[in-house]
Amino acid sequence: MAQPLFSLDGESLITPQSVTNHRHPSDKTAEADLLATAEAEFVLIMSLANQRFSAGNDLAEATEWLIAQMHDLRWKYGPAVWQGLIPIIQAHPSAKIMQQCPFTRWSFEKPRGYSGDASLIDFIYGHEAVAHEVAKSTPLGLNIFEYTRNAPGPVAVRERRDILTEYVDMVAAEKGPETEILTVAAGHLREAENSQALKNGGMKRWVALDQDPLSIASISSQFHGTCIEPIDGSVRGLLAKKHKIGTFDFIYAAGLYDYLTDKVAIRLTQVCMDMLKPGGMFLYANFSDEMADDGYMESYMNWELLQRSEADMWRVTNASADPNTVDSKVWFGANRNIIYSTIKKRS
Ligand SMILES: C[S@@+](CC[C@H](N)C(=O)[O-])C[C@H]1O[C@@H](n2cnc3c(N)ncnc32)[C@H](O)[C@@H]1O
Repeated sequence: MAQPLFSLDGESLITPQSVTNHRHPSDKTAEADLLATAEAEFVLIMSLANQRFSAGNDLAEATEWLIAQMHDLRWKYGPAVWQGLIPIIQAHPSAKIMQQCPFTRWSFEKPRGYSGDASLIDFIYGHEAVAHEVAKSTPLGLNIFEYTRNAPGPVAVRERRDILTEYVDMVAAEKGPETEILTVAAGHLREAENSQALKNGGMKRWVALDQDPLSIASISSQFHGTCIEPIDGSVRGLLAKKHKIGTFDFIYAAGLYDYLTDKVAIRLTQVCMDMLKPGGMFLYANFSDEMADDGYMESYMNWELLQRSEADMWRVTNASADPNTVDSKVWFGANRNIIYSTIKKRS
């Protein structure tokens, strides 16, 4: 894993080790008891997977099967054993095969020095910015990619991008040309590419904040001359109220809460609620605990996330705003791999 060329603010658990340290206080006894059994089961799964891969006739189906097996293994043995199994999976020869998939490889190698960088999400979006990386892949890698990019998690991420565009356009249609929007952890702000309100000058400003200078540079060059204002900033800066950026009609964060503990998630939501104008809305998204690709992501992709259930989302939402002053909702995307909460401040 490369070292980031900027300092991580420490508020997001965006390295696998930081997630692990937070989530799983080590339980060595349980691990030792069950790890050998789990490893034997993994070896059996891999021998079946190898047969499917060597037969070579339906690699996408073989990858789908393997992803489902990793999910089952993760849930069957529980967090402590699963944490012990991850390095075994990553050292297995199958990892070299799976990493021929450009999306899996990027996630595993972490060229930006942390998990879930905006270029990784570009593989999911099928964006031209990563076409050169995809083009370097072997035919086998491309076949695997065909499944990994169409697995339930990535399908939900593409829907999330479209939902964000819809919300931005809906708020701009309601509030008119004075609309002000803030995106926290904007990445490459791909949801802006299809925004009609942006295209038609239907808003006053769209502030896009991210900690990664490369993401900010990408937004600056792509959206130069529009009302988008990129800001090199962090969750920590927002919590410390360091960024003097005013108030907004709509604030949202996608691909961020998956790395925030409840404590930081609640503090950030409170700060964002304070930056809303009366009648403004805050939205955050999180991978749900029903997601299907978690075992594959955490092992072959070395991409750990804090998944949240519906109850977890309500806990964060209700702790962040006085229910008497807001109208809140928690709802799933179409395939239930991503869950959303919206908190609307009453006028
Ligand atoms: C998974 S990407 C999501 C990008 C975009 N929101 C999307 O939905 O495609 C996560 C982004 O969060 C940013 N990020 C993570 N932790 C952050 C922090 N503590 N402060 C600011 N940005 C952060 C990363 O730099 C990265 O660009």
